[in-house]
Amino acid sequence: MDVEMLYLNGTFMPLSEGRVHVEDRGFQLGDGVYEVIKVMNGRLVWLEDHLERLDRNLAEVRLSEAAWGHRLGTILPELVVRSGVDHGSVYVQVTRGYAPREFVFPQPPHPTVLAYARSRPGPSVEEILAGTALHPVEDLRWARCDIKSTNLLAAVLAKEEARSAGADEALFVGSDGVVREGGSSNVFAFLDGVIRTHPLNNRILGGITRKHVLEMARKKGYTVDERAFTIDEVFDATGPCEVFTAATTRDVMPVVKIGRRTVGNGRPGRVTLTLLDAVRHEQALSVGLEPPPSLL
Ligand code: PDD
Repeated sequence: MDVEMLYLNGTFMPLSEGRVHVEDRGFQLGDGVYEVIKVMNGRLVWLEDHLERLDRNLAEVRLSEAAWGHRLGTILPELVVRSGVDHGSVYVQVTRGYAPREFVFPQPPHPTVLAYARSRPGPSVEEILAGTALHPVEDLRWARCDIKSTNLLAAVLAKEEARSAGADEALFVGSDGVVREGGSSNVFAFLDGVIRTHPLNNRILGGITRKHVLEMARKKGYTVDERAFTIDEVFDATGPCEVFTAATTRDVMPVVKIGRRTVGNGRPGRVTLTLLDAVRHEQALSVGLEPPPSLL
């Protein structure tokens, strides 16, 4: 049986016993950053990449000192073992902690560092092969989407709108029609024989899955261009066209619908499934499991 364990400011405890101050700046101001890391076979997938991104994000919001003394490289694996999680994810959050409510930084700060593990099955093969539907929304987020901030209200509203529209994920589109990313995923297209995705800049999160997908695509000999595409390009494509999302909790998901329109032939494409196979293969090997059968 899993026990939901929490690491909170140096102490392990059952998740239900965790308490954070009412004036925690994460709660009141969204003044914090976070990570979500996949667990497979009781091990953390691509842990180094996630810790590196967390460090960079902490530096961006001038919170680096908050993590001092918390050796997350050993704490997070211990948390997974203590929780008994075999397959699921670890959520990590660092905030500027509690202080009487002011916008400027408290002096001295009392940061909150927490993490917990949870069992959660990934999408089944049937779900993957059924494909996913995206609901386009105008991207009204702030201009530092490269920071994995706990300020997620725009994504919450967009994803709720997507759900109401019967879709699985929101698709953030710029006012120029450019596809930026999903509500909590990066988005790729295979167009005219080229794998395209929005370049790394302030408009998107530099996803860890995105990074590995690009590496695998290049290794497999695909032409890759980190150049944004528009929804019109997807629907105007004359040749084979595929779209897919990439994110920690759902790996690579084929997109079969955007809004009311069907993408390509409405079925997961060969390039998408090849890359998903490669991700599943690499992840399985990295956690000491047999690679799963191909989806092709
Ligand atoms: N979100 N873009 C956004 C806006 C995201 O929130 C995420 C992940 C990604 C994909 O990043 P990665 O491959 O590193 O998971 C892209 C996580 C899963 C979440 O908020 O739950």
